[in-house]
Amino acid sequence: MASVVQPMGLVALIFLFLNLLLTGCGAKAAPTAEPHAHGTFLQQLRQTDQPVPHPGVESVLAKRDGVAVPVEGFPAHPPFQTIARSNSMETYPCSQCHDKPLAGMLALRRKDQPNSHWQVKLQHAPDNIMSCQTCHGEGDMNQLVTLTGKQVSMDAPYQVCAQCHASQVNDWAGGAHGKRLGGWAPPRVVQTCTGCHNPHAPAFESRWPAVLGKGDANYPGR
Ligand code: HEC
Ligand code: HEC
Ligand code: HEC
Ligand code: HEC
Repeated sequence: MASVVQPMGLVALIFLFLNLLLTGCGAKAAPTAEPHAHGTFLQQLRQTDQPVPHPGVESVLAKRDGVAVPVEGFPAHPPFQTIARSNSMETYPCSQCHDKPLAGMLALRRKDQPNSHWQVKLQHAPDNIMSCQTCHGEGDMNQLVTLTGKQVSMDAPYQVCAQCHASQVNDWAGGAHGKRLGGWAPPRVVQTCTGCHNPHAPAFESRWPAVLGKGDANYPGR
């Protein structure tokens, strides 16, 4: 037993010596061991006392771009993900108000008052081929609806768009339309259709290049 204790004692002595050397001859206490040095460093950066979980790729992506959900319905492509929408929509869940059939709710609409969704102005396809009910039908208002009456999650708008824009949706699934988010390593996460196009008015406004004047801080030569 003694032969085991002695080397242990020696190791302890060397350790103590090194410790005194490093901490300035014991003038101040050795720093306490930090179980999550990484988290503490991030906490300092953020100047918060809240514990920070180890920032995995998923959580960094979620913070910046939203929550990723699997894309369904493209068996020809390797699995990929897109960004959920429902969690960032102010009026969601729609069932807060849409707790009865739409026809009954519309009957209560007052002509002398703006309707509940006055801010939604449909500027998409001609009136004779598209109305609100093309994408939001009877049944569960929390979900979108297809032309054949099938309900589709608010997080899968591409399934609704695909009915009329099949070529763009196929390009999107293949990576030729839209935008890839996060890194190049799997899982492949892409922006969803409504992350770029407003489904009610999908066209982008024309933009002109900004003209720099001499008063501008970015004016060349400043
Ligand atoms: C604050 C309450 C409220 C919320 C939340 C709400 N709605 Fe409505 N919505 C109404 C009312 C009330 C009507 C019918 C009368 C009116 O337009 O004022 C209506 C009508 C509609 C109509 C028919 C419009 C038309 O002109 O035919 C659609 C489509 C619709 N809502 C979709 C949605 C969707 C999709 C959501 C969720 C993303 C949602 N609503 C959330 C209150 C609400
Ligand atoms: C081409 C399909 C389409 C049509 C037509 C359409 N919507 Fe939508 N609507 C959507 C999609 C998709 C979303 C989810 C938007 C997102 O991902 O941000 C949405 C979201 C909404 C929301 C919640 C977000 C918001 O902007 O407040 C409301 C309310 C809504 N629609 C009402 C209407 C009403 C009222 C009409 C008719 C005037 C209409 N929609 C027509 C596809 C459509
Ligand atoms: C029921 C058919 C239908 C559905 C569903 C539909 N669209 Fe459209 N979309 C059209 C038509 C029709 C046009 C007009 C084409 C034109 O004017 O040449 C159009 C035009 C567009 C344009 C071009 C706008 C421009 O002028 O630059 C975009 C972008 C677009 N849609 C995106 C979407 C998105 C995103 C969705 C899903 C949320 C969607 N559409 C769902 C029929 C549809
Ligand atoms: C990263 C942003 C982004 C995403 C995501 C995106 N688009 Fe687009 N889309 C664009 C841009 C930019 C254009 C070109 C607009 C222009 O020329 O004015 C465009 C054009 C279009 C057009 C007009 C016809 C054409 O090809 O130029 C349609 C239709 C369309 N997108 C549908 C969709 C659908 C459906 C989805 C989802 C599957 C989608 N987009 C996803 C940015 C996006």
